[in-house]
Amino acid sequence: MSELTFSIQNKSSADTKVILASGSAFNAGKFINTDETTALKNAVRKQKFDGKAGSFAEINNGKTRIILAGTGSKPSALDLQILGGKLYKKISAAENAAIYLPADKKNSLSADETAAALALGMELGGYRFDKYFTKKPADSFPKLEKVDFVSETRADGSLLADAGALANAVRYARDLCNEPANNLTPEIYAADIERLDYLGIDVTVLNEDKIHDLGMDMLLSVAKGSVNAPRVAVLQWKGRKDQKEFDIGLVGKGVTFDSGGISLKPAANMGDMKGDMTGSAVVVAAIKAAALQKLPVNVVGVVGLVENMPSGSATRPGDIVRSMSGQTVEVVNTDAEGRLVLGDCLWYIQEKFGVKTIVDIATLTGSTMMTFGFEYAGLFANDDKLAARLIECGEITGEKLWRLPVNADYDKLIDSDVADIKNTGPRLAGGITAACFLQRFIKNGVKWAHLDIAGVDKDDKGHPLTPKGATAFGVRVLDTLLKKLA
Ligand code: BES
Ligand code: MN
Ligand code: ZN
Repeated sequence: MSELTFSIQNKSSADTKVILASGSAFNAGKFINTDETTALKNAVRKQKFDGKAGSFAEINNGKTRIILAGTGSKPSALDLQILGGKLYKKISAAENAAIYLPADKKNSLSADETAAALALGMELGGYRFDKYFTKKPADSFPKLEKVDFVSETRADGSLLADAGALANAVRYARDLCNEPANNLTPEIYAADIERLDYLGIDVTVLNEDKIHDLGMDMLLSVAKGSVNAPRVAVLQWKGRKDQKEFDIGLVGKGVTFDSGGISLKPAANMGDMKGDMTGSAVVVAAIKAAALQKLPVNVVGVVGLVENMPSGSATRPGDIVRSMSGQTVEVVNTDAEGRLVLGDCLWYIQEKFGVKTIVDIATLTGSTMMTFGFEYAGLFANDDKLAARLIECGEITGEKLWRLPVNADYDKLIDSDVADIKNTGPRLAGGITAACFLQRFIKNGVKWAHLDIAGVDKDDKGHPLTPKGATAFGVRVLDTLLKKLA
């Protein structure tokens, strides 16, 4: 589906009309005529419309369809995004629609903020991954292309561009995550990321030789079993030209397919592991969003792109590898590969760019998925302020985070008998010991947070803002964080 076009107009000729209302009374000025107003008032009574968030009433005289959409009182931006997602479903069969934003003094959001939230919700809720259908009839696809907002109060649509930029980035990340691994090898993926230089993002791709020269043997040990060579992509967005340092570094796990390697995963749902690159897609998309919005922030992203496969050349359980940091690692289980990729990327971003604040994001452990189900991502951090900030970003965006400990009590569980570190602890507390592993690659004085998005990276049931499939969980959290730093 192509993206929607949004604008703010004085009036609209669309024959699908939507009116927002916070209670059973509504106000639509000249947006609809007196006959329509009377009919709509009848519908409110008959359809028991009360204006609660997500409640609807509607009339349809064959020519014009008019929908009352309940916002509830004092909706937040997130509430309106969710309403936008629901509204999209209702009106996507029309080619264009108009949404009337009545002046409501009780509302805490301006008309511009309301329009932007609804637009974002419609874009996210309207996402589809349908490129591989060859037989579906054309009329089974949504038609909606153009949405006009009609506002009673002054509004210039200035926030619509930012909503569009963020939606574009989330949709890009979802496309990458939904793409099957045969069509998104590390090489193809890196080439796709390189195209972002049209936005003023500086993209460098490190190939296998370069990765080898840098001493990232821990990352290479994951790629060894695959015929698809690894890549590391480095993205720099400098929105603050007068400042040399980076405000933040982002690191993402980009395992394009995780079979488990020689420690092979069971067959059931193994296909889901095409999404094991979600963290990397989230990092790339957050930087894309920053560039599209020209955020005044300096951000560098490093994503490790590898495929984890079993073969005669694959790393074996028991192998010992040397990380870029110089620390040696005993690979107890080749299915604990994400931390091997991230550890070298974390070290690289600190060495090369001297970043003092880092957030990494990864579909890292089944353990964290078992803990939180599909509700929260696990948050681990060595800095309370950074953790609190991220939690706040999660509350604003609806991408909820919950903090778990990462400390010496758990860290000792990954001491190895034959090397400096082993890549798995005992089965218990698997999400925490994975975070401890990553922390061994964080230099003193560097503020660091790790988001484990295993579980929340996909949605099997669908949600107003995330249809079934990849959610790209984290793009909105990181976008909000970057805006706070800007
Ligand atoms: N990519 C998986 C984690 C995962 C599981 C993501 C389910 C999404 C859904 C990761 O590489 C992995 O296999 N982790 C193992 C680690 C274990 C071997 C210590 C796990 O969590 O089972
Ligand atoms: Mn794995
Ligand atoms: Zn994995």
